[in-house]
Amino acid sequence: MSFTSIAVKKLMAFAGIFWFFYVIFHMLSLLNFHFGENAFDGFYVWFNQLLVYQLMLLMLVVLLGFHVIVALSRQFVNNISKGQAYQKSYPYGVPRFVAWAGAGVLFIFIIVHFMQMKLLDKPSLYQYMLELFSQPVMLIIYTLGVITLSTHLHHALTNVLQTLGISSKSYHLLVVLLVLILLVGFISIPMSVIL
Ligand code: HEM
Repeated sequence: MSFTSIAVKKLMAFAGIFWFFYVIFHMLSLLNFHFGENAFDGFYVWFNQLLVYQLMLLMLVVLLGFHVIVALSRQFVNNISKGQAYQKSYPYGVPRFVAWAGAGVLFIFIIVHFMQMKLLDKPSLYQYMLELFSQPVMLIIYTLGVITLSTHLHHALTNVLQTLGISSKSYHLLVVLLVLILLVGFISIPMSVIL
């Protein structure tokens, strides 16, 4: 394996790990929503003015772009060199096109969500959440986004365990539990608006 491909593999892993910790942090900070407008808006007004927040945003954008380009080009090279018949299957027999469709929906969700949150002007994020989740179409989009994030993470974490040679059931249960906690945490925001 060449030096470049090892470096790309390592960067790809770093991009995944960075995003993984970001989504945990994002879900936990969103839980402020359940403590009311002051707690929620107060947290984001404080956090968004920090330099660390601007650096985090920059890293998220660059690493997502890198992750997507490398994943696409690897798949493309795989298709050409091996042909469909010899491709490694996904864990639990998930068809390749289903995994790619899920990743595609997740990517589109992240772009739409990012533009909604960062480019639109809003005096109160809390009020914006109330307005957003009173629209059924937004509820569907966000539910789809969170579900595709969960399946993508489950797939990625299972792959990591496979690569590390870990097949223990308890580790797999831990992955499922982690993904479920993220799913419930994210979904609790729109649910608290509509219930
Ligand atoms: C119901 C689920 C979600 C809600 C209610 C939600 C809400 C929010 C809010 C309020 C912000 C603005 C924060 C700010 O101004 O700093 C934000 C930003 C963002 N969200 Fe989400 N989000 C959800 C799910 C997700 C998911 C699943 C992802 C990615 C996989 C994601 C990625 C981002 C990114 C990249 C940003 C910009 C960076 C940041 O400000 O943290 N979000 N989201």
